[in-house]
Amino acid sequence: MVAGTCTGIVTLMQSAAPLVRLPDPTIDELLAGRPNLSMHAVSGLMLDDVPLRGIADALGTPAWVTGADTLRARYRALADAFREAALDVSVHYAVKANDHLAVLRVLQAEGAGADVVSAGELRRAMAAGIETDRIVFSGVGKSDDELRLAIGLGVQVNIESAEEMARLSALSAGMGRVSPIALRVNPDIDAGTHDKISTGRLGDKFGIDHRDIPSLYEEAGRLPGLRPVGLAVHIGSQVGSAAPFRRAFSRLASLVVALRETGSVVELVDCGGGLGVCYRDEDSLSPRALAGAMRATLGKLGVRLAVEPGRWLVAPAGVLLASVLLVKCQRDAPPFVVLDAAMNDLLRPSLYGAWHGILPLSPSAALCPAAPAHVVGPVCETGDSFACDRLLPALAPGERVAILDTGAYGAVMSSTYNARPPAAQAMTDRGRWGVIRNRQPVEALWRDEIVPDWLG
Ligand code: LLP
Repeated sequence: MVAGTCTGIVTLMQSAAPLVRLPDPTIDELLAGRPNLSMHAVSGLMLDDVPLRGIADALGTPAWVTGADTLRARYRALADAFREAALDVSVHYAVKANDHLAVLRVLQAEGAGADVVSAGELRRAMAAGIETDRIVFSGVGKSDDELRLAIGLGVQVNIESAEEMARLSALSAGMGRVSPIALRVNPDIDAGTHDKISTGRLGDKFGIDHRDIPSLYEEAGRLPGLRPVGLAVHIGSQVGSAAPFRRAFSRLASLVVALRETGSVVELVDCGGGLGVCYRDEDSLSPRALAGAMRATLGKLGVRLAVEPGRWLVAPAGVLLASVLLVKCQRDAPPFVVLDAAMNDLLRPSLYGAWHGILPLSPSAALCPAAPAHVVGPVCETGDSFACDRLLPALAPGERVAILDTGAYGAVMSSTYNARPPAAQAMTDRGRWGVIRNRQPVEALWRDEIVPDWLG
């Protein structure tokens, strides 16, 4: 992952090397890397051939826009990569990346199942038409109610601990059911990604220590109410190289062999998500490379394979539209370009120091010479910043911009901090667009709040 700092320096976060100043990609470079975006001489910035200006005019800003054509193209590219590698892989879209029903619907129609981590996500996936036998339930802490829901629906549960396995067994047996489970392995592999989204090292809260898998898998076979079907792994998110995947999958392959040697049945290996995308100019891993790593390590085991991609499918399909409220000049430093979008809308830059491209919507603004600017939101925190010292064309108040690659972990991570209602959402599809979430009236923010009578 790449982080921006307010010293005008952009560094590779994993690199122990001295800070290196990397030039910001130009508008042309940003567009060149994103075939779903184009700058039309009259209509301005387009997503999947739909002018974003028209959407911003109609809905106001901030507004999220998701391109259904991009979603389909990416799903197909992923499926093609597995096909070309002669692998039969069940794709379970990680709903947490973008849980909008319309997004789920598009992916479901392409053939996606779902990876869910809460009853809410499970119900969303079902509401979008995803069959329960194509849903897996992951997550380090599931409530009894959530487990009962999964058991009742026959949904596969990816078990994260011995404690959870015992609880599921008791609940499932009590309901007279036999639940399919996979054990999520913590393979002790460093995914080489941002610390906050690295999940496969011992000491991370996720998965079961790989050394405990043989005994626990055997125990699962003996416990009532459980049918162990295989192993799962997810080493982290925004993984940029094949090596950690290869190491993790090799570890799972060895476990499969060892389990079978002692008589256990292992039908499935769920390889998790984590496939990274290029936000700035960092290395990103192609689905082909992922498929290659899966084939090389797991291809000969005769197991069913599954993956749980989130970000790779949806990140580049989304943009966040925002307007410039004002440009606040400073004496000896770049100006603050204050947008009407904020950290409550898009949290990633504040939370992870994540870098997102920013493009003007208007073709004339795109032609202005670039100068450094700090792009911030109006929320009362210094951390409410989208970009520091970013080379951008001069942006006047009223100018609109698109913050790029926000289709994953964007709207889903929004809050209403500073009493800012959730932004509107639109979807483009084959040249047309429609609203997929109305902008909420501000009163909706306190609709469910209760002022006790005794307060008068
Ligand atoms: N499977 C499991 C069990 C997961 O925990 C995750 C993501 C995925 C699949 C999907 O991973 P992906 O393909 O999207 O990398 N909010 C962070 C990302 C958190 C990822 C959490 N788990 C961000 O904005 O970068």
